[in-house]
Amino acid sequence: MTIPYIVFARKYRPQKFDELIGQEHITNLLKEAITTKRLGSAYLFSGPRGVGKTSCARILAKSLNCKDGSTLSPCGNCPACLEIAQGQVLMLSKSTVLRTAALTKSGRFVRM
Ligand SMILES: Nc1ncnc2c1ncn2[C@@H]1O[C@H](COP(=O)(O)OP(=O)(O)OP(=O)(O)O)[C@@H](O)[C@H]1O
Ligand SMILES: [Mg+2]
Ligand SMILES: [Zn+2]
Repeated sequence: MTIPYIVFARKYRPQKFDELIGQEHITNLLKEAITTKRLGSAYLFSGPRGVGKTSCARILAKSLNCKDGSTLSPCGNCPACLEIAQGQVLMLSKSTVLRTAALTKSGRFVRM
């Protein structure tokens, strides 16, 4: 017998900016960037474990790649939204992130 199994973090992962709790300083910045179409060329999410970095990155990715275009309410059902929700998108490796972390020391960034 096979038991349907969904990784816990995936099952309960927030799917909208407004479902992320306590990260308004980040989500407001990203929502503003999306509505005004003034996006940075890359975003690095930094902060303690389990505060919503991956969730926030996926919500941003859906907001930009949804068939509905740049939107604060991605449909959640188009191929782009589904692939991102399932984690089937290119993610930077930890070593890439660690190398990038050195750069943030010299740059301006907002912590989660
Ligand atoms: N700000 C938040 N609001 C609501 N739920 C959250 C939040 N942060 C984390 N969670 C819950 O914790 C789970 C893990 O969060 P997530 O993977 O986004 O954290 P992370 O910062 O990427 O962690 P890690 O440092 O381990 O990579 C989510 O699926 C969600 O259920
Ligand atoms: Mg993560
Ligand atoms: Zn979509």
